[in-house]
Amino acid sequence: MAGEEGTGELSISFRPLEVEDADDVMAWKGDPRVAQFCRWDTYTCRDEAVAFIQNFAVHHEWCRAICVAGRPVGCISVTIGKDEARCRGLLKYELAHRCWGKGVATSAVRLAVPAVFREFLRLERIEAMVIPENKGSMRVLEKCGFLREVILRKYEVGEGRLWDVALFRYSF
Ligand SMILES: CC(C)(COP(=O)(O)OP(=O)(O)OC[C@H]1O[C@@H](n2cnc3c(N)ncnc32)[C@H](O)[C@@H]1OP(=O)(O)O)[C@@H](O)C(=O)NCCC(=O)NCCS
Repeated sequence: MAGEEGTGELSISFRPLEVEDADDVMAWKGDPRVAQFCRWDTYTCRDEAVAFIQNFAVHHEWCRAICVAGRPVGCISVTIGKDEARCRGLLKYELAHRCWGKGVATSAVRLAVPAVFREFLRLERIEAMVIPENKGSMRVLEKCGFLREVILRKYEVGEGRLWDVALFRYSF
């Protein structure tokens, strides 16, 4: 389950999130700069972080804390499709602002993708869906070998507007 990769600047490892991590989780879930491209609203209290850990992260099939020096600075998950969608998984990640621009997300995606393919043998592709304004996230995916397949026009509604979404794929 644990894994490590050197980034050149920061070395990361994975582990499951625990309720005791709620304060660290607030460092990114409570930051509108992180929430701006995500489909969740900025958390306003620690209880929301506890609920995220207890109701989502702990029960999720593949969700890991991205740790630097053993402390969570973000999280990464792959949700595995069911039934006819069982050949694909949906990748998501988010990172505390103080760690941006240091290769952390790139290292996390590079570590996660082979680990998930090893664990879920029926997977044929891992997808990621990114709002095209999120240049940093699209760059992370490209650096990790994801291909941009299509732009889904007028795909999501939120914050009073329609959003296009770029669909990325990693497969062998
Ligand atoms: C997206 C996110 C995970 C990136 O994390 P990160 O650790 O800063 O990413 P990395 O340092 O590994 O790589 C970022 C790359 O994007 C580039 N980049 C960042 N912002 C950019 C911008 N506005 N325009 C173009 N490139 C940009 C960086 O230069 C870097 O590329 P390089 O190595 O070729 O220089 C982080 O910004 C984040 O958590 N954002 C909020 C949540 C989010 O958007 N999650 C993804 C939803 S799909």
